[in-house]
Amino acid sequence: MQATLYIIGTGPGDPEQLTLKAMKALNTCSVLVTPKGSVNGNSTALAIVSQAVDTSAKEILELYFPMKKIHIGAEPEAEVRDAWQHAARTVLARMEQGKDVAFPTLGDPAVYSTGYYLYENIMAINPAATVKFISGITAMSSCSAATAIPVCLGDEMLAVIPATFKDNRLRKILEMFDTIVLMKVHKVIPHLCQLLGELGLLDKSVLVERAGMDDERVFTDLTAITAPPHYFSTIIIRKKQ
Ligand SMILES: C[S@@+](CC[C@H](N)C(=O)[O-])C[C@H]1O[C@@H](n2cnc3c(N)ncnc32)[C@H](O)[C@@H]1O
Repeated sequence: MQATLYIIGTGPGDPEQLTLKAMKALNTCSVLVTPKGSVNGNSTALAIVSQAVDTSAKEILELYFPMKKIHIGAEPEAEVRDAWQHAARTVLARMEQGKDVAFPTLGDPAVYSTGYYLYENIMAINPAATVKFISGITAMSSCSAATAIPVCLGDEMLAVIPATFKDNRLRKILEMFDTIVLMKVHKVIPHLCQLLGELGLLDKSVLVERAGMDDERVFTDLTAITAPPHYFSTIIIRKKQ
């Protein structure tokens, strides 16, 4: 039988948020390929999985995926493209040996995840490869649960965006939508505080750092954040409270 690659959402941090389907695939696969954002760093997805699954008999390959801005429709930087292609070739080599491969990725693969870049690169090399996605709990959902703030109810409109736009798209989206979930906020807190203050949205904003992890923190006053929070931080802005 043809080997399968499972691209698996791990949830944002708490291993108890791994789904039964994710656990089944993770237990079955003999190879784990995990993404990490720096050459000498560790994979957070692997750390989550390792708390729930016995990985001792599995082949574990931690692959470096550079954390660079990706503009959809434009060519990625060569370093990024090379890393994606290397990952795709590594996965396909194991699959050609008949081994099922799991690629755990933080949160859900459908939301700002390396999982789909891996998928596209695998399809470019071998369109007949068998790849299955297993969805996970998003960081947004976990932040919502941590704060008891729903992201959209009734006829409300929700926008989920990275907070790193340099142009005025962020302001427009903040004005237009009822709830805005800002991801990748860690480097731009001062700018966000200024913009949210101008739009009268500071008291509608809450930041959750490391949702689902042991050291989870919730900030209801963004102006009180004096040092950049962890990369695993998300802001929910809900206008109607
Ligand atoms: C590359 S995106 C990954 C999103 C993920 N695939 C998802 O489904 O939520 C990384 C961003 O997700 C958010 N994030 C990931 N884990 C988080 C956590 N445990 N707590 C809060 N935000 C988190 C942060 O905004 C971070 O900058």
